[in-house]
Amino acid sequence: MESKGGFSGRLGFVLAAAGSAVGVGNIWRFPYLAARDGGGLFIIVYLILVLTFGFTLLTTDIAIGRKTQQSSIRAYQTVRKGWGFLGFFTFLVPVFIMTYYGVIGGWISKYIVTYVVSSGEQAAGDTFFTDFITAQYAPIIFALIFVFFTALIVFRGVEKGIEKVSKFIMPILLVMIVFISIFSLTLHHEDASGTVRTGLQGLAVYLIPNVKGMTAQGFMQVLLDAMGQLFFSLSVSMGIMITYGSYVKKDVNLGHSVGMIEVFDTVVALLAGLMIIPAVYVFSGLEGMAGGPGLIFISLPKVFVSMGAAGKWFGLIFFIMVAFAALTSCVSVLETIVANCMEIFKSSRGKTTVILSVIYAAASLLICLGYNKLYFELTLPNGATAQLLDVMDYISNNVMMPAIAFLACILIGWIVTPKWVIDEMELTGDVFRRKKLYYIMVRFVMPVMMAALFLQSTGILGKIMG
Ligand code: PFF
Repeated sequence: MESKGGFSGRLGFVLAAAGSAVGVGNIWRFPYLAARDGGGLFIIVYLILVLTFGFTLLTTDIAIGRKTQQSSIRAYQTVRKGWGFLGFFTFLVPVFIMTYYGVIGGWISKYIVTYVVSSGEQAAGDTFFTDFITAQYAPIIFALIFVFFTALIVFRGVEKGIEKVSKFIMPILLVMIVFISIFSLTLHHEDASGTVRTGLQGLAVYLIPNVKGMTAQGFMQVLLDAMGQLFFSLSVSMGIMITYGSYVKKDVNLGHSVGMIEVFDTVVALLAGLMIIPAVYVFSGLEGMAGGPGLIFISLPKVFVSMGAAGKWFGLIFFIMVAFAALTSCVSVLETIVANCMEIFKSSRGKTTVILSVIYAAASLLICLGYNKLYFELTLPNGATAQLLDVMDYISNNVMMPAIAFLACILIGWIVTPKWVIDEMELTGDVFRRKKLYYIMVRFVMPVMMAALFLQSTGILGKIMG
């Protein structure tokens, strides 16, 4: 078997891991959840959770990866005999996610092309998004192009592919997002009724906690939303950080790296809100912010049109940025599947990547058809109406991830005990600063909260509470 390769050093690892973490979750999901869940209230809850839950899960995954030097299927078996099932279960999450991530990447790419060839007015049409995703061929072609680029990066390997691309993309992404968010704050607009709204008022809507009419149950929902977002955003409990951790050299201080990944991911999410919420507020008022999942594909293009000639360029830069973010995330999903398969089948990177890419090209095609020939409407246990893509998303994010996090915390907290992870964190002789916090979280807090999250997101909790 050829060697797996690895990151050249800490920076390469941190940027690649941040590349995985920063994705459509930060730019698309975080702002609409913040808009829906009381602005600053959601932000405060989220920040506390990142520093406790996010930290614990990220530390656990990365330490398991580096200590065992293996990807999830083998890694859990190495942590403890008999726990290989958890590794397999974890492996299935990227297997599901990969079926639709390329499709979303394709949607984003379509917007880039639209802004290149037109003024962007077309993209702001009410039915543009739906017309596109339900079309017969176009979404398939865009998805295949996106999967092709993802595969190309994975094919080139860890250092020459993933690390190199992340070192190039992540700093550019950060600069672009800072630039657009500052611009967003300077916006102002007078609507038909003569009301003037400014970017700074939008900033207040975003940052000031809105607790009006908040009930205990409402707060619980905010908490659970923030927790679900955290999993998705940090790419934890899906084996990705285990695989990336397995590529880190033994002389890298993991505690610092975990801290940097947390900060990078959270700063990008906060900036994404800063960029989107004031802009949407200025041009569409409070009602515009109720756009939910359609926020970036439907509401934002309207905002760009209202900006006049500059809108085309902002639209273009914005969607290039989202595409970059999605690409490095998609790479991490495919890499995790490739790495697991290479270990199990003892096959080469090239061959494994090619075979898996063909399989995923076919899977993406099926998912695209889910909006067309294979269209159906299914009501999920949590009450949402779903198409094929949402079903995949639901199984991986709502059902499997909390269950995996729960089992991983039981394994580390109670079976091998937290010392197993703490030793790896202190391998370089550095102090693991949040050691006590880690111990309490992994042993006591996480299992209870993960069980609650699992029951809530599968709809079981709702049934119990009537
Ligand atoms: N963490 C990425 C985001 O916030 O968009 C999303 C993601 C990447 C989810 C990789 C799942 C995944 F396997």
